[in-house]
Amino acid sequence: MAKFRIVVTAGDGIGPEVIAEGVKVLKAIGKKYGHTFDFRYELLGGSAIDATGEALTKETLAECNKADAVLLGAVGGPKWDNPSAKVHPEDGLLALRKGMGLYANLRPVKVLPMLVDGTNLKPDVVRGVDLIVVRELTGGLYFGRPKRRYTTTRGRRAVDSMVYSEQEIARIIKVGFELARSRNKKLTSVDKANVLETSKLWRQIASEVAKDYPDVKLENQLVDSCAMRLIQDPKSIDVIVTENMFGDILTDEASVLAGSMGMLPSASLGATPKENERISGLYEPIHGSAPTIAGQNIANPIATIMTAAMMLRYSLALSKEAKIIEDAVFNVLTEGYRTVDIMSAGMTKVGTKEMGDLVAAKI
Ligand code: IPM
Ligand code: MG
Repeated sequence: MAKFRIVVTAGDGIGPEVIAEGVKVLKAIGKKYGHTFDFRYELLGGSAIDATGEALTKETLAECNKADAVLLGAVGGPKWDNPSAKVHPEDGLLALRKGMGLYANLRPVKVLPMLVDGTNLKPDVVRGVDLIVVRELTGGLYFGRPKRRYTTTRGRRAVDSMVYSEQEIARIIKVGFELARSRNKKLTSVDKANVLETSKLWRQIASEVAKDYPDVKLENQLVDSCAMRLIQDPKSIDVIVTENMFGDILTDEASVLAGSMGMLPSASLGATPKENERISGLYEPIHGSAPTIAGQNIANPIATIMTAAMMLRYSLALSKEAKIIEDAVFNVLTEGYRTVDIMSAGMTKVGTKEMGDLVAAKI
């Protein structure tokens, strides 16, 4: 029996629809197991820009930092896409990650057996895939300075900077090793060390940190070759640790293994997660705000529901309840219910709300 303070930023596009289903499932857990979730709604991204002119206000960041956890709906949309606009929805998300100090983004990719035939890849390739990408989240190209667009006498130019300190690299590599230790003791560190200085440093630090983890086997892989391996032989991968932008790209690719972006959850943390220890975090499905399908009750809420499960596990020390949510999703899918993105012949097509209802009913 406990009371938890959860900030919810519903976001833009399909954000509010899928968030509503995640909250529905959490309420079902609360009711059944006697936990009180004190949900506080805050604006982030496009909706915040419309209301305040800023993608993340100081007040919202302060609320997020006070919370036990933050549950986030995707931000962005064509309305705020103009490249010459001063502020974009994504700025709010990046400022929130940075402002909460969340350098470790955990993106598990688990292929569920009943969805094996529904992907674009051969069933034998994806069956049994169970990997996790540890994405560095507050450094690299996303945040490095200088970062700007400007005009010279010879025309327009732009610069982004890929910058990493040894401390930033070491702490994320450690998260990778800790996770690998709790799983199959194999860590793949992904870089572009044949070209990039940041990657050369990354590789050095990885082998230094490895000395503290003699029980874990470290392999280094170049990001281009890892991109290929992810769809050629994903079962050979257990834990990947990589820098911000590589992780962004590889996890969209990895979502194809699971059948849909609408299936993949993530947790953004500011420390190494430990069983039964409560660390605050931001919980964000990896998919975007999908503005073209917003408001139609067709988006897949499973990524958000699984994200809520990660929140229970890592921030609220409720692993039993997290597993109950994951099992509920598994059972609903086993019964043949599908949203349109994972629909296949002979299955029962349901909408966003119905999928949420079905999962909540199993709690
Ligand atoms: C993600 C998204 C974000 C990112 C965007 C929306 C800024 O693609 O979480 O993967 O690049 O981090
Ligand atoms: Mg992305």
